[in-house]
Amino acid sequence: MSIMVAHIVAAAKNGVIGRNGQLPWSIPEDMKWFRERTRGRALVMGRKTFEAVEHPLPNRLNVIVTRQKNYRPKERGSESESSTNAPVHVVSTIEEALEYCKARAAQYHNEIFIIGGGEIYQQSVSYVDTIYLTRVHRDYDGDAFYPAPDSNKFKLIEKIDRDVPVPFSFETWQRRPIER
Ligand SMILES: NC(=O)c1ccc[n+]([C@@H]2O[C@H](COP(=O)([O-])OP(=O)(O)OC[C@H]3O[C@@H](n4cnc5c(N)ncnc54)[C@H](OP(=O)(O)O)[C@@H]3O)[C@@H](O)[C@H]2O)c1
Repeated sequence: MSIMVAHIVAAAKNGVIGRNGQLPWSIPEDMKWFRERTRGRALVMGRKTFEAVEHPLPNRLNVIVTRQKNYRPKERGSESESSTNAPVHVVSTIEEALEYCKARAAQYHNEIFIIGGGEIYQQSVSYVDTIYLTRVHRDYDGDAFYPAPDSNKFKLIEKIDRDVPVPFSFETWQRRPIER
C-alpha cells in the first residue's frame, strides 16, 4: 500500500497564508473541508502553526516540528496523550516527522498531511505527491506565504469554484510522473 503525502493549504492570490500567526480570512466551508479531509489522518506541522491552533487536533496524529530541545506542547496531558486525547509527538526535522508518520501510516488511512505553516511548506514541497490548495482570489496583507505550485512538476487535476464569503477555489494539484 503506497502512502500519500500532501500539502493542504489556503493561499491568497498574492500567496499570503497568514498574518500575525493567524489566518487572514474566515471561510467556513474551507475549515469544514480541512476538518473532513484530515480527520483520522497523520498531520505534520511547524511549531508556530501548532501554537496558533492552540491545541492538538482531535482524531488525528499531531507531529510538531521544532528545533528547540525538550519542547513540550503546552496542552500535553501525559507522555503521548493531550487533553483532546489526540496523540502528539515532537520531532526536530521534517524528515523525522515523515518517518514517524510513515511508520504508523496504516493506522491513519495511509495519508500524511503537511498542514503548514510557511516555513514547513517551503521545506517539504519535494516530499509531496499532492497539493490541496484553497486559492482565495484576493490579495491580503500577511507575513507567511505559499508559492504557486510549479506547473512543470505539478498538474492541476481538479478545480471547484466557490463565491461565499469571498471568491475562492478548491484546487487539487498532482505531481507529474517523472519522465524517463
Ligand atoms: N492558510 C493556511 O493554510 C495556513 C496553514 C498553516 C499555517 N498558516 C499560517 O502560517 C503562519 C505560521 O507559519 P510560519 O512559517 O510562521 O511558521 P511554521 O512553519 O508553522 O513554524 C515555524 C517553526 O517550525 C520550526 N521549524 C521550521 N523549519 C524547521 C526545520 N527544518 N527543522 C526543525 N524545525 C523547524 C521552527 O520552530 P522553533 O522556532 O520552535 O524551532 C520554526 O520557528 C501563521 O500565520 C498561520 O496562521 C496558514
